[in-house]
Amino acid sequence: MAKADHIKRLVASFGKNQEFRAATLRIIDEAAHQGKKPFAESLRKILDANVRPDYQSQGKQPGLTALASHIDATRDLLEEIPALRGLKDIVLNSDTRALIENVIEERRRSEELRRHRLPVSTRLLFCGPPGCGKTLCAEVLAHELSMPLFSARLDVIISSFLGETASNLRRLFEFASRTPCILFLDEFDALARTRSDNSEHNELRRVVNSLLIMIEKFRGPGLVVAATNLAQFLDEALWRRFDDVLSFELPNIREIDTLMDRQFANFHASFEPSSMGGKLVGLSYADIERICVDAIKKAVLKKRKSVSETEFAAALRHEARRKALISRRSA
Ligand SMILES: Nc1ncnc2c1ncn2[C@@H]1O[C@H](COP(=O)(O)OP(=O)(O)OP(=O)(O)O)[C@@H](O)[C@H]1O
Ligand SMILES: [Mg+2]
Repeated sequence: MAKADHIKRLVASFGKNQEFRAATLRIIDEAAHQGKKPFAESLRKILDANVRPDYQSQGKQPGLTALASHIDATRDLLEEIPALRGLKDIVLNSDTRALIENVIEERRRSEELRRHRLPVSTRLLFCGPPGCGKTLCAEVLAHELSMPLFSARLDVIISSFLGETASNLRRLFEFASRTPCILFLDEFDALARTRSDNSEHNELRRVVNSLLIMIEKFRGPGLVVAATNLAQFLDEALWRRFDDVLSFELPNIREIDTLMDRQFANFHASFEPSSMGGKLVGLSYADIERICVDAIKKAVLKKRKSVSETEFAAALRHEARRKALISRRSA
């Protein structure tokens, strides 16, 4: 049974969309913790179907105005990314999966941790090469935690007037400290280059210093997730400011097999998808996904029910040409 306090809070939140959701989520957390998983899951489904988070509603539910005005004040600095994919849609190595599951569990049971005066992880740094799931994982977190995902628009935030960059960052962090959301700072290296970089002047060092402080002080209600594929350029002092650093690497053969099985889960292949693993080592998840989609598209356009090995080989060659072209252009 839900605790009397939770029921009182639920009734008191009548008409206030955001608070009603939060109160129901507390009851769901409690039920899950007590091992009443079927009840927790069915309540969660009912909640998601009937009471959408304010940011997803069309302005018809009460409580929207307050959040909307927060978003308005920072709208120019943020872009909302729809969070449709969940944990089942991402392939992760076991260490990273364990860390992500831990973040989700902590957040879902944050009340319990706070009751014991324990901190909840609120600041994560994602590192790794392109196309290995950093942005996808931010989406997964938002989806699993039913929070909106807001990506910071660096093109607007980084101003040629450095004083303005710091004040834009402050606005962002103020927004994230009021709004339960995932604040995603992609290409974080562009903001947080090492302070000892001689080519930069003092003003830029001050921006990095204030960023350090903002991250250090950030306590939620949501999460700040920073991502970079140039971790070597990050200021050393930054690493310590994050509660966890998660690594997203190129897939190994086992992870490739899992990805391939998923790619061909809804469209048949006339070969064993995992038999292609050897040819795909060294490619990113995004590359492999592109090859599979390319091969499936060819089969669909030929009005066939399955992808042949020849079509898959053609898609592989297509990707190799694409990569060669890109590397020639960036050389
Ligand atoms: N680990 C993964 N599991 C399943 N699919 C993945 C994974 N990584 C990437 N993908 C697929 O590739 C797409 C692009 O990946 P994503 O944008 O997450 O890469 P990234 O690490 O953020 O790259 P970048 O450094 O270029 O921003 C994803 O939307 C997803 O479809
Ligand atoms: Mg990304």
